[in-house]
Amino acid sequence: MKAIIPAAGLGTRFLPTTKGVPKEMLPVLDKPVLQYVIEEAAAAPACDGSVVILSDIKESIESYFQPDPAYHSRLKKEQHHEACETAEKLGALLTYVYQDAPRGLGHAVHCAASKTDNEPFYVLLADVVVPNHTILQELYEVSQAHNGASVIAVFAVPDDQISRFGIIAGTCEEILSDSGIVPSDDAAYDKPGAVWKIDSMIEKPKRELAPSRLAIFGRYLLSPRIMELLSTQEPGAGGEIQLTDSLVRSLEEEPMYAYVIDPNEGYDTGTIPNYIAANVHMALADERYAALLREALADVFA
Ligand code: UTP
Repeated sequence: MKAIIPAAGLGTRFLPTTKGVPKEMLPVLDKPVLQYVIEEAAAAPACDGSVVILSDIKESIESYFQPDPAYHSRLKKEQHHEACETAEKLGALLTYVYQDAPRGLGHAVHCAASKTDNEPFYVLLADVVVPNHTILQELYEVSQAHNGASVIAVFAVPDDQISRFGIIAGTCEEILSDSGIVPSDDAAYDKPGAVWKIDSMIEKPKRELAPSRLAIFGRYLLSPRIMELLSTQEPGAGGEIQLTDSLVRSLEEEPMYAYVIDPNEGYDTGTIPNYIAANVHMALADERYAALLREALADVFA
């Protein structure tokens, strides 16, 4: 089973930086966002490689994960070599597919169709970091319990943020607990661990029209049928080929589940405020940086 990692978007919310550096290569703490994502995919159950979707202005990503003896010859310290080698070893697990233009997430995912062998596949948005690698394991467990059905990660958002996300409709049927999947008697339960059977999805609904407060997060485990549906997907919102539109079409043919994550399990880095917040959260959770950051923040708020 492959992991598809779309990283071919324009990253316009980070302009002008993204004219020179892909947003997926911006650092969170000590390494690029994309490196966390590739490490997560490499640790996912049953995953035997990742396909990174790039564009022709993102070739620097391919270079970053390739061994570069000339660069190494300039490095003096052993730990500097080790830092580079970690990325280079990950590179051995990657294949690359180039998207000709940013035609939308659905189009980017479909660019990897020839690499997925008609098997289920993971999708990991390249600007979302999941430091503890928990979510793909959880999606896999839920999918296994439902004959390999598609499972998408969702998280509960505050009412005033609902209109910014894709929101699911459905009912909570089960809860994934330490002792496995157990039935739920609360159809509206939306806390971490809840497993919902999805009826439909709505892109950016008004708060009063939203069928739940569960928003689509950037991690998916999808059935091969989704890849087939993407091949005939018409452009949708923004004139782009939307992954969500093919997910909605698949609901007429096969069941799909949503797994409610804890919002602290992962961080979207795709906007400047979210990128800063991800750095702060992760620095405070990292003993190398926590004390210094607390001091700096204490100065700011003094
Ligand atoms: P985003 O919509 O967050 O990224 O897509 P973007 O389009 O680069 O960002 P803005 O809106 O211009 O700031 C989520 C992920 O999907 C990839 C992006 O690279 C990002 O990692 N993507 C998106 C593609 O690979 N191709 C696309 O056509 C669109």
